[in-house]
Amino acid sequence: MSTTQPHLFVIFGGTGDLTKRKLLPSLYRITMENGVGEDLNILGVSRTDHGDDEYRGWARDALVAAGVDAAAATEWVQRMFYTRVAADEGDLAAVRDEIETIEQKRGLPGNRALYLALPPPSFPDTISMLGEAGLNTSPGWTRLVIEKPFGSDFETAEQLNAVVHDHFTEDQIYRIDHYLGKETVQNVLAFRFSNLLFESAWSRDRIHKVEITVAEEIGIEGRSGYYERAGVMRDMVQNHLTQLLTLVAMEAPHSFNADAIRTEKVQALQAVTVDPDHVVFGQYTEGVVDGEEIPGYLDEEGVAVDSTTATFVALRLAVNSWRWQGVPFYLRTGKRMPRKTTQIVVTFQRPPVCLFHGVEDECEMHSNVLILTLQPDEGFELRFDVKAPGEPLHLVAKPLHFDYEEAFESIPDAYQTLLYDVISGDQTLFVRSDEVETSWQLWDELIDMPATVHAYAAGTWGPEQTDIALGRPGESWTLSD
Ligand code: BG6
Repeated sequence: MSTTQPHLFVIFGGTGDLTKRKLLPSLYRITMENGVGEDLNILGVSRTDHGDDEYRGWARDALVAAGVDAAAATEWVQRMFYTRVAADEGDLAAVRDEIETIEQKRGLPGNRALYLALPPPSFPDTISMLGEAGLNTSPGWTRLVIEKPFGSDFETAEQLNAVVHDHFTEDQIYRIDHYLGKETVQNVLAFRFSNLLFESAWSRDRIHKVEITVAEEIGIEGRSGYYERAGVMRDMVQNHLTQLLTLVAMEAPHSFNADAIRTEKVQALQAVTVDPDHVVFGQYTEGVVDGEEIPGYLDEEGVAVDSTTATFVALRLAVNSWRWQGVPFYLRTGKRMPRKTTQIVVTFQRPPVCLFHGVEDECEMHSNVLILTLQPDEGFELRFDVKAPGEPLHLVAKPLHFDYEEAFESIPDAYQTLLYDVISGDQTLFVRSDEVETSWQLWDELIDMPATVHAYAAGTWGPEQTDIALGRPGESWTLSD
């Protein structure tokens, strides 16, 4: 059963890459799989000179490229309309008129999702123009969806929030971090708060350390203009890794509603401190990834020959709460690593007394380790000690596995989940204004800090200095294969 209502989904940046690769295929699936059906009508807005039919043709090609059957795509795009905004047009009055015309034609009650799939520098002006054109309210609901990055530091995020709040109320705002739409990321909460076995051990009383790895095999994918300004801290840490960290560290919300959850996330973030002495930056040099020779970052097109932009960071931080005091959290992320994997690894403490002494080892016990693999090969692994058969007594660590794909048929794409939530009015998986500001506040110092950027060869796990710099020489990161 659909919980949605007939509405107009307005995409600013309607002919852009995000619309083509993510938004349209996800909107298509929502109508097919989430019961949204005919409730969805789309208006694309951009600077390209198209008529409705040309736009539909462009959208149909995008859907076919995403694997949709051509006949189904041709029929589906009949719900789409297009309107052009000239580069020098100083207001959105014409867009408002077009919206009202379509609503009349289709008998829509005035429910509107306004999606900014635009370059971030144009967010403030577009939001102001929406407000000035009266597009911040409507006879039905109006929701504003803002893509990442939201600001480029605390100050700009605060300014952008001010512009947003000049025209819209917070309950109309949907700030995207696509990691929150990933099924396995949401499952961190389900895992923690519905399995008492783990939640009762989820604290400094039982946990020795937490490691979060978000490794990517890809490089900057031709986005040097953006990446040179963003670097790894803005591209991955301030948003995606911060989200993973808060989901692991937060307290239980009083209920599973958007504000209760987001309040707990903000509180967890407020307790985090980063020690700039325990941070390592890296930049990839040429190397081999998956058998392929890869050029170094400095050889990528558009990158300055002397660029010091970091493509890797590893850091150690503390969560100064009653629950986590003294437990180190290690985060790392990088491009051009040996493989793509996102994992949260929780290492439990060893038993207080060692009863099992091996021949070589002083104490043979290993820690229990819980590994949540968020992508790819989504699943869990719990490692525990068993006695190997025979004598002399010998303990080996063995895993218990849960595999998402084995248990469930398929996992929805993150954008499908997020767009459906926009349409149905659920803000849980979107970043609240105080959350985005708290996150920038946490990372601003590191972003601005002049730091050495160590070289690491493409296809390795980062600079060799990493574990010494994190204050744990000889200790390696645990990962599931
Ligand atoms: C984006 C970053 O937000 O996330 C990219 O801009 C990065 O640089 C991407 O590659 C990673 O997302 P995913 O879903 O592939 O882990």
